[in-house]
Amino acid sequence: MAPAPSSTYSTITLNINGEDCTLSVDHRTTLLDALRERLSLTGPKKGCDQGQCGACTVLLEGRRVVSCLQLAMAAEGRAITTVEGVADGERLHAVQQAFLDFDGYQCGYCTPGQICSAVAVLEEHAAGWPSAVTDDLRPEAGPPPLTPEEIRERMSGNLCRCAAYPSIVKAVARAAEATAGAEADTAQGTTTKVAEASV
Ligand code: FES
Ligand code: FES
Repeated sequence: MAPAPSSTYSTITLNINGEDCTLSVDHRTTLLDALRERLSLTGPKKGCDQGQCGACTVLLEGRRVVSCLQLAMAAEGRAITTVEGVADGERLHAVQQAFLDFDGYQCGYCTPGQICSAVAVLEEHAAGWPSAVTDDLRPEAGPPPLTPEEIRERMSGNLCRCAAYPSIVKAVARAAEATAGAEADTAQGTTTKVAEASV
């Protein structure tokens, strides 16, 4: 006999780091609790549990969200990326590598959220999104220089109780350089291949 419909629980499928995970959740379950308590994805951390610290940051369809304020049910059918999913196999994401290179942490509790946020910052910046400290808001001005002030503003939703901010800012700046360099190399490679093909 089919289980009686429940007004409290539903079975949902979450797409997390490219894999579908089906689970039954209480409708009040936050995405953070579903990830940590039900699916053992403990990268996202519970700091404040009220949307203030950013420790629980994950990417939802590429946009950063604080997963403690997101209901798991509302994330069904949307691509969720946690810190466990930002690397490309064994190859670290440029942001992860930069955090290692620049010691962008002390205790590390805030780091998964910082890294997810920084990954989104690079994409938002490349897409030309301004921040609250961007001077020139004209569309034709393009992305503003990713200065320390821009980075601090764009990362301001992620608190670090160890105050590793100077290293975090350097790490994000380095990751932005590395990403821009990799994109330039890819474009150069494409140009070379086109040129070779047309000889
Ligand atoms: S635990 Fe989600 S913002 Fe602090
Ligand atoms: S490294 Fe400890 S809270 Fe940020």
